[in-house]
Amino acid sequence: MNTYGPLFSRVYDREWAFWAEHLWPFLSAKVGETCPRARTWLDLCCGGGHLLKRICEAGYLGVGLDLSPHQLTFARRNAPAAKLVHADVRAFEFRMRFDVITCTFDSLNYLTQPQDLAGVFARAARHLAEGGLFIFDMNVFEGLQDAWNRTSTISCGADRLTVTTSFDPETAIGRALITGFAVEGDTSPTFVEEHIERGYRAHEVEEMLTAEGFAFEKLDGHSLEPPEERSARLLYVCGR
Ligand SMILES: C[S@@+](CC[C@H](N)C(=O)[O-])C[C@H]1O[C@@H](n2cnc3c(N)ncnc32)[C@H](O)[C@@H]1O
Repeated sequence: MNTYGPLFSRVYDREWAFWAEHLWPFLSAKVGETCPRARTWLDLCCGGGHLLKRICEAGYLGVGLDLSPHQLTFARRNAPAAKLVHADVRAFEFRMRFDVITCTFDSLNYLTQPQDLAGVFARAARHLAEGGLFIFDMNVFEGLQDAWNRTSTISCGADRLTVTTSFDPETAIGRALITGFAVEGDTSPTFVEEHIERGYRAHEVEEMLTAEGFAFEKLDGHSLEPPEERSARLLYVCGR
């Protein structure tokens, strides 16, 4: 994979850890209410392990999986009690089932082929213990269409990033060109990564979930309230 290299993963660890903090109160309450006996929790595409840190601190047996070895380096540091696996979410296989499976933030958007997303849902279904919960959030088509059309600059400690996004509604593909600089005003980048995400429409996601036998509750991923007409991000709480 040529994203989430060492320099971007370092920035990610500081700049995007907030998403796990945003979701954790909701996730812990939902799991506590719905599966009070849950013990095992698999976090797919765990990134720098920010959610896993919370999962393990709350007493669950936390397992994380990610394709970027650099993200896993941070996950090891942030969630030392978690078991970490370097693997592709499109092909994960465990000998056990989990009470809770999560996959958060833009992770599933990186699966730009619909059959890959459907395949992950099938694997999640197979790995979910009876009565368990599969919870994920993702950008949807409207979110990328409305927001991925700009250039922004991010300062993060010593690092400076420019992020230029674009979206093609014909293909539903969004591109984010992320360029890192060590010092403001530098012209030679320290790294360049192109992140490609697909903006799925809600009905596509829901047809795939239904095909795997999931029933689901859908929320706006930002407000964690019922979705709005053009919610940019949706969060699904799924059970079978
Ligand atoms: C936006 S980050 C989200 C990380 C974490 N879930 C969070 O909420 O902060 C997306 C993560 O998905 C991982 N990823 C992307 N494609 C993947 C794949 N095919 N298999 C496993 N991990 C993948 C990346 O390495 C990255 O860590």
